[in-house]
Amino acid sequence: MISSKQKLPRHIAVIMDGNGRWATSKGLSRSEGHRAGADSIDRLMEISLELGLEAISLYAFSTENWKRPVTEIRSIFNLLVEFIDSRLEGISKKGVRILHSGSRKRLSSKVLSKIDSAIEITQKNRKLTVNFCVNYGSQEELLNAFSKLSEERRKKKIPIQKPISTKELEKYLYTYPLPPVDLLIRTAGERRLSNFLLWQSAYAELFFTDTLWPDFGEKDLKEALDWYGRRTRKFGGLENG
Ligand code: IPE
Ligand code: IPE
Ligand code: MG
Repeated sequence: MISSKQKLPRHIAVIMDGNGRWATSKGLSRSEGHRAGADSIDRLMEISLELGLEAISLYAFSTENWKRPVTEIRSIFNLLVEFIDSRLEGISKKGVRILHSGSRKRLSSKVLSKIDSAIEITQKNRKLTVNFCVNYGSQEELLNAFSKLSEERRKKKIPIQKPISTKELEKYLYTYPLPPVDLLIRTAGERRLSNFLLWQSAYAELFFTDTLWPDFGEKDLKEALDWYGRRTRKFGGLENG
């Protein structure tokens, strides 16, 4: 049970893994697994709104996922477009702000225009921020951030010797201005980060569950939040400050 006094994470990141295994176990195609995964996103958004969470980042497609068969990639992006088309009005009315983290480089103009219109339509909403990480990889994000930062410094004629601060760099991350990740959840039994929010999760609490993403629901989220509530976060200091 989540008590009203319990400390909630400001920013939850989710590696939504296991759609393929879920589908295989039911004799379905991988794309049907991704469709069931999209229904789990609906549930997660609903519960997050009920609980009054501030921000969730969802790993939907990584820079490494381009290695998958083109048919699977196509089905994931078709689902993304369908997801935005069918949900945008409803979630916008509920106060959800949509953000995108990731490179725009290999995304089709159709996908980009859907994402951009979702961001624009929901830009004033603040009840819950849902950050879709699409074509996202932390290493690419950091390389992009460093190159944008050095370009900006060159334009402003800032001497190369002037040290770069973390604050300065963070302005160039795709996730800016979201706060750092407090709780990172990965489903489907894997215990790795797969290039997700490496900088932002520097002090995140890591919650791993065997539940496959399409089966992830209220019970699992509450279990993760309860577990998070019992952690002592020290950020390198001592327990009692
Ligand atoms: C996660 O599920 C969704 C994406 C990576 C797009 P997977 O497709 O990785 O599912 P498994 O790991 O094969 O079960
Ligand atoms: C991570 O899952 C990416 C997403 C959930 C979008 P993967 O299934 O691609 O990760 P690996 O390949 O098992 O590390
Ligand atoms: Mg996987």
